Amino acid sequence: MISAASAICAKLSSHREALHRYSMQELFARDPDRFVRFSLEFEGLLFDYSKNHIDKNTVHLLLELARVAGVEDMRRALFAGEHINFTEGRAVMHMALRNQSGRPVMIDGHNVMGDVIGVLERMQKFSKAIRRGEISGRDEPFTDVVNIGIGGSDLGPVMVSEALHPYCDGPTLHFVSNIDGADLHDTLSDLNPATTLFIVASKTFTTQETMTNARSARAWLVEALGEAAVTVHFAALSTNLTATREFGVTDDQTFGFWDWVGGRYSIWSAIGLSVMIGIGPENFKALLKGAFDVDQHFQSAPLGENIPVVMALIGIWHRNICNYPTQVILPYAQHLHRFPAYLQQLDMESNGKHTCRDGTPANCATGPVVWGEPGTNGQHAFYQLLHQGTDIIPADFLLAASSHGKPGDHHEKLVANCFAQSEALMIGKSLEQVKSELLAKGLSGEDAVRLAPHKVFPGNRPSSTFLFPKLTPGMLGRLIALYEHKIFIQGIIWDINSFDQWGVELGKELAGQLLPVVKGEEPLGKKDASTSGLFAHYQALGD
Ligand code: F6P
Repeated sequence: MISAASAICAKLSSHREALHRYSMQELFARDPDRFVRFSLEFEGLLFDYSKNHIDKNTVHLLLELARVAGVEDMRRALFAGEHINFTEGRAVMHMALRNQSGRPVMIDGHNVMGDVIGVLERMQKFSKAIRRGEISGRDEPFTDVVNIGIGGSDLGPVMVSEALHPYCDGPTLHFVSNIDGADLHDTLSDLNPATTLFIVASKTFTTQETMTNARSARAWLVEALGEAAVTVHFAALSTNLTATREFGVTDDQTFGFWDWVGGRYSIWSAIGLSVMIGIGPENFKALLKGAFDVDQHFQSAPLGENIPVVMALIGIWHRNICNYPTQVILPYAQHLHRFPAYLQQLDMESNGKHTCRDGTPANCATGPVVWGEPGTNGQHAFYQLLHQGTDIIPADFLLAASSHGKPGDHHEKLVANCFAQSEALMIGKSLEQVKSELLAKGLSGEDAVRLAPHKVFPGNRPSSTFLFPKLTPGMLGRLIALYEHKIFIQGIIWDINSFDQWGVELGKELAGQLLPVVKGEEPLGKKDASTSGLFAHYQALGD
């Protein structure tokens, strides 16, 4: 964090000390306009952040923090295509993939929109042909599509295809990511090679997991249908056309993208092909449009009315002023069950950094641990800790006002639970309340005193709620883009590069050294006692 920003954080810390003498309930009582003041609406999406332990002055100081940290200037640089990912020498321009303004997007003096639209049109043509059975296996349409990828080349397509399940009316989609052969094996065991299309999704086309799975899938196909089937049954999504050709994928079935699309931001690119095949090009376009709308909002709304800016600042308040270590994502929507995992990569790979832009060590906490599960499942697993644990964990609740299918009163129960949880986290239950409830139930005074402390809820636990009419492709696009920009702003305030991911390299490098050892082709050499001990034990156990 630059020093001017640290100075505002110091002011925020003193402000917090004074503010947190009052409970959130007291703050609600003192300000009848609190819900209106601390909520924003955009295209049917309500963002209620009034259940965070803040007041007007908090927001005022946080907005000052955003200004001195240079949020507006960096936002301009982002959309101007500057090389803000400077450790990789690249622009960050996934927004071009969803640009529906008709305006050019310049990167390094070149309008990239021609290339973007060209790939999108090819994807649309290909998806339509697959969905209609016009592109097929030898003589049968493809019934199953297997996306082979990992990280951003898997999590985006999986999350979106699950979230938009009610819109999936194409071939059945499958996703294989793990190097553990069980993943591919279990997926293939139910599939017919003659009617299966493989999509190898990898920006680099060198990722060990993806290429291992792709080669095994290729062998499975060739064994059943012969070598000639590869050109028909494989498509590739990548920036590395030399490698896709070497693998045997034809250029006709290869869909490219560019180095200015980060892996975790690539769902908008050719990486979304499996989703487009599943939900159809029109619905995919609506997904892009939702994200595009957010890009417009992010660029034009004043900071205090700018949803991703406010989301980011609330997160900074929690992480740097209140020192809360994690952030939980709680979608009250089964279809969003992979949304927390998706955001985990988006956030933690972007902002899990300990080095400032100038190469000095970070002087403040950066990205929190992001985790979560859908409600109501989490209520019966980890909410105990959310309500009574010693850490305070800010929560994001996501809820659709109406569901796609309406069996009985499931949805009303889902809604009631969602609202109840954010209310319970905030209001808590005092010792006095608990004691009088126990006495009213007929417990003796002694028993009530003994039991009461265990049933106390401290309350004052912060949360924000995103409430929207329905989980449509457009709304999903909006939600994803809001979090993308939130993460970008936080990175600016922390003064880190949110767009590289050097932290994944060391493990890959060491795994590369260990593989010939594990295969028995090389000796282990000098290692720490734990690694040597584990390896010796592994050898003793055998395969
Ligand atoms: O190892 C991390 C990472 O590079 C992610 O950033 C990326 O989403 C994933 O691996 C997959 O990379 P690729 O698409 O090149 O296979």
